[in-house]
Amino acid sequence: PLRIAVLASGRGSNLKALIAARDAGALPVEFAAAGSDRADADALRLARDAGIPAFALDPKAYASRRDFDRELFRRLDATGAGLLVLAGFMRVLDGEALKPWVGRTINIHPSLLPKYRGLHTHRRALAAGDAEHGASVHYVTAELDGGPVIAQARIAVRPDDDEHSLAQRLLAEEHRLLPAVVALIAQGRLAYLAPDGAALDGRRLAAPLQ
Ligand code: GAR
Repeated sequence: PLRIAVLASGRGSNLKALIAARDAGALPVEFAAAGSDRADADALRLARDAGIPAFALDPKAYASRRDFDRELFRRLDATGAGLLVLAGFMRVLDGEALKPWVGRTINIHPSLLPKYRGLHTHRRALAAGDAEHGASVHYVTAELDGGPVIAQARIAVRPDDDEHSLAQRLLAEEHRLLPAVVALIAQGRLAYLAPDGAALDGRRLAAPLQ
């Protein structure tokens, strides 16, 4: 099966949803590693409890973003993972360090991209008076929240919604959306099409890296 690595900065509920889907037989993957930029992230505790190798890297221990990201990707390379899933990883990745992983890195973002890249997406959707809100899973490129969108979940905004209620209702959808997309990739039913036309699908991702 496809080996995946997951990065998360905090709570880890999307990681939990991935583990649950795997346990339910709905997600044919092996967890190669879980990583975080915070040693105290609940996501790491969740990973360890599930028997997934977990590691934390402290950004303050590195002179630059690029140095941190180089070490991060060195660790990820060593896991033999074919797919990297950003599940609430709250750091921007350096474009150079990311390059070899473009096409095999996906992110879940809590907005209907291309709307609301960046932070405070629920607040911004409410402030704009949007009738609907949602989450997107997209391939990660050097452009922040700007890579090709794979799939989205939509919910209606209710008149009495606040930031918290909207985020909570959307989170339940995220927990369905992310495992569904990872399953498509793991089954070889979804391919990343590079600008040069090369396709990177789940079968190639599952093959050992050279
Ligand atoms: C999720 O809502 C995810 O979409 C969002 O952070 C939350 C993490 O929750 N990601 C981003 O905002 C990325 N820019 P979790 O740790 O419980 O999965």
